[in-house]
Amino acid sequence: MPDKVSLTIDGRTVDAPAGSTILQAAQRANIYIPHLCHNDELKPYGACRLCLVEITHGKRTRQVASCIYEITEGLEVKTDTERVKNVRKLVVELMLARNPKHPAIRKIASKVGVEKTRFAVEIKGCILCGMCIRTCREVVGVNAISYKSRGFLREVATPFNESPTDCIACGSCAYVCPVDFIQMTEKNGVRTIWNTEFPLQKCKKCGRDIAPEKQLEYFRKKVNLPENHFDTCLHCR
Ligand code: FES
Repeated sequence: MPDKVSLTIDGRTVDAPAGSTILQAAQRANIYIPHLCHNDELKPYGACRLCLVEITHGKRTRQVASCIYEITEGLEVKTDTERVKNVRKLVVELMLARNPKHPAIRKIASKVGVEKTRFAVEIKGCILCGMCIRTCREVVGVNAISYKSRGFLREVATPFNESPTDCIACGSCAYVCPVDFIQMTEKNGVRTIWNTEFPLQKCKKCGRDIAPEKQLEYFRKKVNLPENHFDTCLHCR
């Protein structure tokens, strides 16, 4: 199998490593394709549909999510046909109906030429990109949250909407959320996330908060560190 694949994107010949997706090939060539649920550290998922492009193979043309579609030799990709632009606008309008004010969505909206949504605004905040769920599962190695319900009722939630027993309060889900939907606070030695309070471990020397006890315990066991490894903070070591 050749190392490189040659394709055309908007009429330009682009070479990219075999196994790349269209989005990755476009990024290498500095061709802008809007996207919201893609992150190089996570497995491609194709949730937001913002990255839609048109591909032609022989006589057949169709639309695909560029973040999950692997490139092949001779593939023809168009990122800005009228059909693509219309679908993209529709996707952005649907996002604006769930979260009309967030700067990340407004920025994409202005890039694709959308000023307001045609749909009834029902503020949900979350745009269901699934980055939080995937980060929890794929990066942290925990399965504390997942999608719940279907259609309009779909949301990200903890099992049975209760305190998540598997959550270690690392905050990775909040960190990766592109629309700041997941709330995480820290006050009086406690981190609160997913409506659950997690005590923070204090440095035994200086008394500073280090991190949630549960998170430190999780990492300590995962990499087999000694019991007292996190007794002191980085400053005091
Ligand atoms: S970035 Fe491709 S579907 Fe979201």
